[in-house]
Amino acid sequence: MRKTIIAGNWKMNKTPSEAAALAAEIAQIKDAACEVVICPPFVDLFFAKKAIEGSNIKLGAQNCHWETSGAFTGEISADMLIEAGCEYVIIGHSERRQYFGETDETVNKRTVAALAKGLKVILCVGETRDERVDGITEEVIARQIKLDLKGISAEDMANVVIAYEPVWAIGTGLVATKEQAEEVCGFIRGLIKELYNAEVAEETTIQYGGSMKPDNCAELLAMPNIDGGLIGGAALKTADFAAIVAAGK
Ligand code: PGA
Repeated sequence: MRKTIIAGNWKMNKTPSEAAALAAEIAQIKDAACEVVICPPFVDLFFAKKAIEGSNIKLGAQNCHWETSGAFTGEISADMLIEAGCEYVIIGHSERRQYFGETDETVNKRTVAALAKGLKVILCVGETRDERVDGITEEVIARQIKLDLKGISAEDMANVVIAYEPVWAIGTGLVATKEQAEEVCGFIRGLIKELYNAEVAEETTIQYGGSMKPDNCAELLAMPNIDGGLIGGAALKTADFAAIVAAGK
């Protein structure tokens, strides 16, 4: 049975002391029936790690470079993240693609490197509003999935989580309907079956992300092909995040 994973993407929010306080609150969430991950900014990782010690909460980062070390100002390596206590890393978030020139090629290189080092990757894909209006959602998602997963083996897929995040739903309050989200998550599962096999497709966790909140999470998470959520805004409020975790069976 595939895992349900609720992950909080803190984006560029919280200083180290604020992160320690929020992580300590989140560590109090008891009896989660699903895997829970928090992904704070890089400088917060050590502090967040300390705050969640002894809990079941897992730590993740928001990006990772493909090289081990070297002259890559502003970047961070998988080894650094692992030593800081990370088990997960988000790669290819639409904000990275939109504002920082991330392409399917760089997303692929980052994914391959992170997996080789033993990190679990939350790989983000999603169409823009214009792409949806133009009726090319499936084309865009298929291109991203195929290029971003290039060279990744069926075995490696055990450490890949796909997050379907329609760009038009991120931080906008515009949530995809449960039918829209289910349709694309099901389409992604079909692509994974084509690229790998039925077993890999069945085992891969596919999250929905984009304005997931306490009042819409239950219906989204109840859909057969939605196995969790990548949560932005609502991950910064302990009560909201706890409510989403509680819905993640
Ligand atoms: P949001 O962000 O929940 O604030 O829409 C989700 C994400 O970008 O991962």
